[in-house]
Amino acid sequence: MSMNYTKEKPWSKRDLMDYLTSHLKESRVRHILGVAHAAKELLLLYGIDSDKVERAALYHDMLKDKDKSWLVSFMREHGEEPGEGLLAWKTLHAPAGSIFAKEICGERDEDTLNAIRYHTTGRPGMSLAEKIIFVSDYIEEGRNFDGVEQLRSLAREDLDQAVLASLLSSISYLRKMNEHIMSQSLEAVAYYTEVTERKDAK
Ligand SMILES: [Fe+2]
Ligand SMILES: [Fe+2]
Repeated sequence: MSMNYTKEKPWSKRDLMDYLTSHLKESRVRHILGVAHAAKELLLLYGIDSDKVERAALYHDMLKDKDKSWLVSFMREHGEEPGEGLLAWKTLHAPAGSIFAKEICGERDEDTLNAIRYHTTGRPGMSLAEKIIFVSDYIEEGRNFDGVEQLRSLAREDLDQAVLASLLSSISYLRKMNEHIMSQSLEAVAYYTEVTERKDAK
């Protein structure tokens, strides 16, 4: 496909959309647009650079349909060892997506790259953009799990609480499925538990 890519100029939103519609399943594209939409609502509320967050949303699941061996070799080709991610390979589309955005799409914004990298596991001390992408991934309009409505209102009231609730819900799901829980997620739980308790104590 023709992608007028140069290292100096990151992919435009149009390039991104072209990539998504030609490489991903339709339901995945719908999810990605849902995340972009949810993120837009939150960024208006929390006052943050809209372009950055919207781009991060479009990038976030770009590599979600790739298999384990593709993701592992892509990461290694770019000098990154998947490490613990090998135990939970479905999380690899996040770090690999961040590398893809940087190396293939020419994305330069560190915050955008981090929002992609940590959208699955979370991490302690996420930036506002990272938190908005993390939470939007759970609350976009296509999601319909038990408690999603409460999570949507929580996201509008207190983003840290919403991050914590999303983390806990995904961890309890992974436990039920007997899947590996990334240590970064557990560290994020500890961090956001402390942050929200500190707020409560005020
Ligand atoms: Fe994802
Ligand atoms: Fe997603």
